Amino acid sequence: MIELENIVKSYNGEAVLHGVNLKIEDGEFVSVMGASGSGKSTLLNVAGGFIKPDSGIVLWDKENISSFSPSRAARFRCTRMGFVFQNFRLISTLTAEENILLPCLLSGRDMLKTKAYIGELCERLSLCGMLSKYPENLSGGQQQRVAIVRALAYSPSAVILDEPTGALDSAMQQRVMELFRDVNAQRGTTVVQVTHSAAMAAYGGRIVHIKDGAICG
Ligand SMILES: Nc1ncnc2c1ncn2[C@@H]1O[C@H](COP(=O)(O)OP(=O)(O)O)[C@@H](O)[C@H]1O
Ligand SMILES: [Mg+2]
Repeated sequence: MIELENIVKSYNGEAVLHGVNLKIEDGEFVSVMGASGSGKSTLLNVAGGFIKPDSGIVLWDKENISSFSPSRAARFRCTRMGFVFQNFRLISTLTAEENILLPCLLSGRDMLKTKAYIGELCERLSLCGMLSKYPENLSGGQQQRVAIVRALAYSPSAVILDEPTGALDSAMQQRVMELFRDVNAQRGTTVVQVTHSAAMAAYGGRIVHIKDGAICG
């Protein structure tokens, strides 16, 4: 279970999140919707431990992730959490395949099984011919799909996805959403996504609306 309790975050004295409370149960598929600038990315990055809130706490299975040492935080991310950043954040000096494999190696998962699963994911997202390329030689949509495979490959208990279909055409958007739906249904992975699209949001079981830095239903 992921719990955000009374999260406040300001930038340059201006509050972006005003005391957000949100609870996500294991195995849920939650879609977060809201206007541009409403604080969605800040919220996801706080939930993932990438941004420290000014006040409030983030609990994963009742553990406060801000209390983790850097090495514990790294281990935690490579087993429990997959994250797709809005701007992908692939490592530019690694190939697509190396980007995908890096967290898998850190996760300690069985690499034979993991590599077979990566093959399956790349097949589903038409990435098989792209794996030896560096990020700068991939289109935005290809980079986004590599970031998605990187987040799913080690079968984390939850994935957090910031507009994960924003760079994709509509046929690929649908394939990606079907993949998230299957990962949620078949592996029990908790899915939290930010989206602007009602059609994408409908893949989830619950929609959370954020307005001006507060949850409004
Ligand atoms: N690192 C930052 N420094 C200053 N302001 C920021 C920073 N990140 C986000 N903001 C501001 O916080 C607000 C919310 O941003 P964000 O969480 O990215 O919204 P969303 O993802 O809903 O579009 C925006 O006004 C944005 O300009
Ligand atoms: Mg955003």
